[in-house]
Parts: sequence; structure tokens; C-alpha cells
Amino acid sequence: MAASESRYEAFLDSRAREGLRRSLLAVAARDARIIGAEGRSYVNFSSNDYLALRFNEALIGRAMQWAEIYGVGSGASRLVTGNLDLFAPIEAKIAQVKKKQAALVMASGFQTNAAVLQALFDRSVLGAEPLVFADRLNHASMHFGCQAAGVRQLRYHHCDAAHLGELLSHYQGDDRPRFILTESVFSMDGDIAPLAEIALLAREHDACLIVDDAHATGILGEGGSGLSGAADIVIGTFSKALGGFGGYVASTETVREYLINRCGGLIYSTALPPPVLGAIDAALDSVPGMDTERAYVASLAERFRAGASAIGLDTGASTSQIVPVILGSPEAAIAMSYRLRQAGLWANSIRPPTVPPGTARLRLAFTAAHQETDIDRLLDVLAGEHAAPHARAM
Ligand SMILES: Cc1ncc(COP(=O)(O)O)c(C=O)c1O
Repeated sequence: MAASESRYEAFLDSRAREGLRRSLLAVAARDARIIGAEGRSYVNFSSNDYLALRFNEALIGRAMQWAEIYGVGSGASRLVTGNLDLFAPIEAKIAQVKKKQAALVMASGFQTNAAVLQALFDRSVLGAEPLVFADRLNHASMHFGCQAAGVRQLRYHHCDAAHLGELLSHYQGDDRPRFILTESVFSMDGDIAPLAEIALLAREHDACLIVDDAHATGILGEGGSGLSGAADIVIGTFSKALGGFGGYVASTETVREYLINRCGGLIYSTALPPPVLGAIDAALDSVPGMDTERAYVASLAERFRAGASAIGLDTGASTSQIVPVILGSPEAAIAMSYRLRQAGLWANSIRPPTVPPGTARLRLAFTAAHQETDIDRLLDVLAGEHAAPHARAM
């Protein structure tokens, strides 16, 4: 056995001792509300399919149609022969939704962040290591992009425009290119960045504002257009509210052309397959007309937050369809997730390093497939369990 194996085993053992070891569990899904696992069914509160589009007839229909007509693969990278004529109309739709000159479809949202940021922060092109001001709770894929570019991030306190302003002022005399990097809706907290203030700072300090709109697109903003209107460059994914898969960047024509010439994740990766593009295309057509679903999801999240607050649960600063229940230790989060599961409710525990130490949590996401009674059941179980430790202590 290679010497490296024993080091990997030691790593896994230490993760297990800290209650942080992860594992994969096979689940079965036949609709957007219920998942099956190990012979039981659960109401799923851990899905990012906010508009329940993944089982939508129009999306499935176009995916099947495009598979039949164009095949199940694209055959090559977009720079070789994979740039099927299906891409351009989809990119035009995204550019229009995001109010940018152009858009570029890539593989997953993770790959888009990791590869696009690496290219944008390339010091050999910029002439110097850029100054990258980043919210400290940004998604892992953004860190990967920064790391791949070899830039040191200047982290500002989460959603704290005043702190960002201080950092920008501190580097005022520095003439290196500046970028500000934030999510719109934060994936593990469900809170929303103060984008108008951040955009003002970006203008004031001549910084390029890059916003990851993954969890807002489709579900928030006018017609589901997201919250990234003030951004210079928008990064996003089709894997959340749009129900499918794939990533994109919306920007100026120049940035798009630059990425086509410099972004390894686009150049050296096979283009998305036609059925996936079909689902994206149908989702882009459906989403603007889904105001009723968006309002319903918002009302479910509000119903949950009100109930959670009444029983003393900590839901952080969430104002979106993502609501954390912050419990503290990994053990507490795992135990709560387990007890919900016993009641037929699925809510994964989220632990460090995905969230900061001491803030392990359940991360709940509400979708158009949920019923109000699902939320009430969830609250009932949480109320019972939340009270239980005190009851035992008495
Ligand atoms: C903010 C954010 N950006 C990017 C991604 C990655 O997107 P995808 O799942 O399409 O790879 C995620 C998904 O977890 C995310 O939460």
C-alpha cells in the first residue's frame, strides 16, 4: 500500500473523532418534495430546487427533445467542436436577464467560480497581484478560484460594508487592480449582502464588483432575475432555482472574449450536453412567469422563521428561502438532524469547515413543492426537541 494511504486514513480518523467525517448516502427522488433513503421516505428540506423545476414537464420535455435531436453529449470542448449552436440563444437570454452585454455558459457553478476567478485574477495579465476584497463567508468555489490564481484574499467581516470600506481605504494609494467578491444570498445563512452599499464602494474605489448570484437567481429579484444588478460581473448556476445543472458568467463582451482565451475550465472541459442545455433553455423561459411560486416560497420561509423565533431557535440573519437553525456544536447539529429524520423530515447538518467553528447548523431550504403543513410539522418536531435538553436537565 502506498505510504499516502495511511495518511489519508489518519485524516479520516481525525475527522471522525471531531464529529466532522462526511459520507455519501444513496437517496431516491421521484418528485421535488420527497426523498427516499434506506427504505424510508422524508420531506426534503435540503434541496436547492427552490422552484421545484427539476421535475417540471416543460424542462423534462425540452431536455428529452434536445437529447433526441442533438444527442446526449456535445462531443468536445467549446473551443473545438462542442460549441453547438444551442449555446448562443441561451447566452443571449442570460445576458438579458442579468442586464449585461454578454454571457458565457460553463460547466457547474463550482467550476465557473474556480476557473473564471483564476483567469480574472491572473497576475501575468493584470501586471500585478490584484487586491481581492472578499466576504469572509464566501462559498468554497470562490476560495478555490482565488487559491488557483495565487491571490491572498483581503477578507472583510460578513456582509459588513463599513469594514469593506475601511479595507478599501487602507489600500487607497495602492494602484493594483481591485476586485470585490461576494455572494448575493449566502448559501449557508440565507442572508443578503448589502449590494447597493458595496456597489457604491466599488465605484468610489474603482473596483470591479463580482457577485455570485447562485441562490438568488430564479427565486429573488424582479421576475426572478436575481439580485446582482449592481455587479460588473455576475457568476451563477442553473443547479439551484433553475432546477438543472451548469454554470455561467455574465459580463462585458471583452471579459467574455478574455475568458474564451484564458479560462482553463472552459477551454479544457467538454461543453455541457444537449439535454442539460434543453432544461436550462426551458427554465429560462419559465422562470419570469413564476411570481406566484416565488411569493409562496417567501411566505413558507417567513412562516418558518416566525415559528422558529417563537420557540427560541436561532435562525441568524436569514431573510430568504434559506433558513439556518444554528445549534453550535457538530454533535448538536447531527443529533437534531437525526431526530428530524426519525420524524420523516430531512434536513442535513452543516458543520465546519463548511461553516465557521461553533456555528454547526441545520440548513433548511423552502421550495414551491412544500406544503404549509410540512413547515408546521417541522416546527412541531423542532419545538419538542428544542425543549428536550431543558426537560432532561430538570
Ligand atoms: C454560492 C454558490 N456558488 C456556487 C455554487 C456551486 O454551484 P454548482 O452546484 O452548480 O456547482 C454553490 C453551490 O453550492 C453556491 O452555493
